[in-house]
Amino acid sequence: MELRNFFASIGIAVSGLALIHLAREIFVYVRPSSLPRYLKKDEKGTSWAFISGASDGIGLGFAHELCRRGFNVFIHGRNYEKLRRLQDDLCALYPERQTKIVIYDASELAEDVDERIMDEVGDARLTLLVNNVGGMAMMKPSPYVKLHDFSYNEMKTVLDVNANFTAQLTRILLPRLMQSQPSLVINISSIAKLGFPWLVPYSATKAFVSALGEGLSAEMRADKQDVEILGVIVGSVSTAGHNVSEGLFVPSAGALASATLDRVGCNRLSVWGYWSHRLRGFPLELISQKTFQAAATKEIRRLRQDILDKAADKDKDK
Ligand SMILES: NC(=O)c1ccc[n+]([C@@H]2O[C@H](COP(=O)([O-])OP(=O)(O)OC[C@H]3O[C@@H](n4cnc5c(N)ncnc54)[C@H](OP(=O)(O)O)[C@@H]3O)[C@@H](O)[C@H]2O)c1
Repeated sequence: MELRNFFASIGIAVSGLALIHLAREIFVYVRPSSLPRYLKKDEKGTSWAFISGASDGIGLGFAHELCRRGFNVFIHGRNYEKLRRLQDDLCALYPERQTKIVIYDASELAEDVDERIMDEVGDARLTLLVNNVGGMAMMKPSPYVKLHDFSYNEMKTVLDVNANFTAQLTRILLPRLMQSQPSLVINISSIAKLGFPWLVPYSATKAFVSALGEGLSAEMRADKQDVEILGVIVGSVSTAGHNVSEGLFVPSAGALASATLDRVGCNRLSVWGYWSHRLRGFPLELISQKTFQAAATKEIRRLRQDILDKAADKDKDK
């Protein structure tokens, strides 16, 4: 009898802990966003957000969503025509917002980066940085490449666009963010940070972006700076750089951007931006990283083969 009571007590305690854990997880997705904390409108001007890689995909989603939520935006990229079209769209949809184009090719990082970025930012009241630029779209025909098949320059480009540019941009803009505090940095990472095959350098950069944010968050707290750093884990999103159909587990770029802004203030170093990505990541709490990698490998193998088949068909048609 006493033994039965003992096991019943353990069962109740474990169920209680699981319920608390579940309630905490749900709270992250239903609590109101703290984004308005970073939006100031007074005699010193309106807050600006800087979005890297804003000409397409998730970055473009952030540009729309931040304008809709009251921010002026710096839209960064390398293609002036695309950014100009985005600027026209934003001006038509949100005539009260200001927008500014910042051109800098992240694959051509050089010592002039400080000067060129700050020349554009001027004395704007910057309260938000979205470190979004990245992806593997530069690898043609397929983003899924074995590590030993990269050339020196290809690997350098992947590292510069996905990691180095983000670190340099954060370093350059941080003094301005501290000056305008409270302020916020959103770092777009990926589920690939767990280590995916045929995406090895990309996986490594996504782990770098997460660690960069976690270290900086600790530094801001240690120095009593009111700068929130939020790492965002992203699963599959339908974008120009990731050509997959939208579905329950594959949101649009706009939906991902909006969901991410809703997570602001959740008091975590990193969070799954989109609820269904969180659901797909749930097994990680129960199974080993190796088992998770094995499941991801199956999916990536299929995606990789599809792209290679399509490229082979195109070659035949030529
Ligand atoms: N889509 C997904 O499933 C997914 C999943 C996890 C994480 N993510 C992350 O989300 C972020 C955005 O991905 P996405 O799918 O939206 O990518 P995307 O559609 O390819 O858009 C990438 C953006 O970055 C810009 N960009 C690329 N290379 C650049 C360079 N050298 N210099 C300046 N700008 C450059 C692109 O400009 P152009 O318009 O000129 O190409 C575009 O604006 C990335 O950090 C990616 O790792 C995406």
